[in-house]
Amino acid sequence: MKVLLINGSPRMAGNTARALQEAAAALQAEGVEAEVAWIGNKEIRGCIACGICGKKGDNRCVFDSDPCNELIRKAAAADGLIVGSPVYYAGAAGSLIALLDRMFYAGGSLLRFKPAAGVAVARRAGAIEAADQINKYFQINSMPVVGTSYWGIAFGRTPGEVEGDGEGLHTMRTLGRNMAWLLKSLEAAREAGITPPEIEPKVMTNYVREDALER
Ligand SMILES: Cc1cc2nc3c(=O)[nH]c(=O)nc-3n(C[C@H](O)[C@H](O)[C@H](O)COP(=O)(O)O)c2cc1C
Repeated sequence: MKVLLINGSPRMAGNTARALQEAAAALQAEGVEAEVAWIGNKEIRGCIACGICGKKGDNRCVFDSDPCNELIRKAAAADGLIVGSPVYYAGAAGSLIALLDRMFYAGGSLLRFKPAAGVAVARRAGAIEAADQINKYFQINSMPVVGTSYWGIAFGRTPGEVEGDGEGLHTMRTLGRNMAWLLKSLEAAREAGITPPEIEPKVMTNYVREDALER
């Protein structure tokens, strides 16, 4: 059993890394393997809506110049996913969002039904919004969002400052333990023959009346 934790900060060893490490240690204490993957601080492309991933159906983004495809592969191989971000302008960091757009557009089908949670670290404000923003990728993709003892947030500004947020770290430890419990429960369910539901073909209604379009 393994959980992939994605550090979406350009700082490899900043507050997001520290918060994720607390969740990872709690997972390991419960016998669950935990790998932290850093998205790095190099350029990450946004989605250009080319649709090639959908046409090819190979769960890969056409752009191979950043960690997107490697992270799709790692997340698909893991049983659970935790994605952490620093808060930038009351939302998640732009590079992480660029990455998640492409990971989920190209590889979302490989991640369905895996438990997941978004985590955000702020100096002062916007953490709930950023954690919610991350959780939306999971919710639209049939992934159970794992709860904790507060929302998935912690506070700190300069690297290491989150160490002083005892409640934030408690929240991360609880998240790790809750994730481990859910993964074990799902394994027991699988062994008992309970499998995820069939995915019914998607119905797309785009709120636009065809007869109102000027042709
Ligand atoms: C571009 C930028 C925007 C930021 N915007 C916010 C913000 O809106 N709210 C906030 O509380 N902190 C904000 N911060 C502070 C970071 O969220 C905070 O320093 C966080 O601990 C960084 O996490 P890291 O060490 O993992 O990178 C911002 C930092 C940067 C660089």
